[in-house]
Amino acid sequence: MAADLTRQSSTIRPVHPFPARMAPSIVWEVLAMHGQKMRVLDPMVGSGTTLVAARIQGHEAIGFDTDPLAVLIARAWSSDIDPLELRRKAREVKERARRRLRELSLGEAYPSRADEETRAFIRFWFDPLNRKQLAALTQTISRVRDTETQLLLWCALSRLVITKKVGVSLGMDISHSRPHRVYRQAPIRSLDEFLYSVEKVIKASSFTGVRHGLPSAEVQQVDARNLPLEDSSVDLVLTSPPYLNAIDYLRGHRLSLVWMGYRLRDIREIRSNNIGSEVSSGACIDDGYTSRLLSEMGEMEELPLRVQRMLARYVADMDQVLREIKRVVKPCGRVVLVVGDSTIRGVFVRNSAAIRILAGFHGLVLKSSSRRNLPDNRRYLPPPSSHRSGKQLQGRMREEVILTLKPS
Ligand SMILES: C[S@@+](CC[C@H](N)C(=O)[O-])C[C@H]1O[C@@H](n2cnc3c(N)ncnc32)[C@H](O)[C@@H]1O
Repeated sequence: MAADLTRQSSTIRPVHPFPARMAPSIVWEVLAMHGQKMRVLDPMVGSGTTLVAARIQGHEAIGFDTDPLAVLIARAWSSDIDPLELRRKAREVKERARRRLRELSLGEAYPSRADEETRAFIRFWFDPLNRKQLAALTQTISRVRDTETQLLLWCALSRLVITKKVGVSLGMDISHSRPHRVYRQAPIRSLDEFLYSVEKVIKASSFTGVRHGLPSAEVQQVDARNLPLEDSSVDLVLTSPPYLNAIDYLRGHRLSLVWMGYRLRDIREIRSNNIGSEVSSGACIDDGYTSRLLSEMGEMEELPLRVQRMLARYVADMDQVLREIKRVVKPCGRVVLVVGDSTIRGVFVRNSAAIRILAGFHGLVLKSSSRRNLPDNRRYLPPPSSHRSGKQLQGRMREEVILTLKPS
């Protein structure tokens, strides 16, 4: 069995960079415990690791996320690809974009809905040549009629923007959602690399070629606190909730989303609803229930009030997510949550403790809990910042907790 799982894990390559992806090995292990065909849900799907693995094994897979780029990536990664048709369309798009480029002035080199704030943002992050090339490409992609093909082309374009080191923007570390501007001229030209990026998308797909007869995966932009699913309709929920305060996904993703027609104010609105982001502050910490939960999470009194409120909001949000998960999972179903604990201003915060208690409150009983080391390249948590960051603390920051629960 182990050899089989290793082989499967090696077949799943990310289609697009995404911070804090779930380790595929966790998904394979969880799926392997359940033989028969299931309806699998990831309500905070991110790049779609759960969906891709579940679909490969013939399960019905459903994913939700509030971040439009996550939705796009998860859809692209879990969808069927016809490589010949995609290549043909990509070449056509590139040719049309080249022609469009000749008549495009720099003043027009913006997405059509961009307001002044968004235009200034684009000028800051993209040099004039790439602004023109990206405008030409995005205008051409938006005219592609077939929505599946269009989705895959957007994914290929976005891969050129969301990179760690070299991409079509002037920034670095965008794929880790910590963008900072380092270049005067972008290292890569959008039109030169576009077809290469399309090839990468094709290569990462597990669903190319002949008809495989697998059920399709469904991905929607939906808030996990309000799931559009019937009661008791899901066999397995497998998800990794946001790692509190560790990653502001939209900070990096907006460099790509602006080219797809999102304005900065649209993105701010989405971000304010994202669980775990720093903007989600303002919740009440005084009621007995919340303050008890907070005290289980760590030494709250060491943290400023603003941060305590942020944690209270996280707890309140996750309370709603767990209520929804309990509602949609079948009485004989399973819930697996992969939770990262975090360090905020040098204080170790056990998100997993709060989630375990909340789950129990909603009638999800803990069956098992295990800790797993994060490989160095997946250590996305912020670096320790104070005297409290001793060796033991650093060790714990390399771990994530896997909670397996079942309805009572
Ligand atoms: C740790 S990531 C998931 C990574 C994913 N397991 C993967 O393998 O790529 C957490 C995700 O939760 C999403 N999220 C945050 N708030 C949400 C909400 N209210 N509803 C749904 N998804 C949300 C974030 O956008 C992010 O994609």
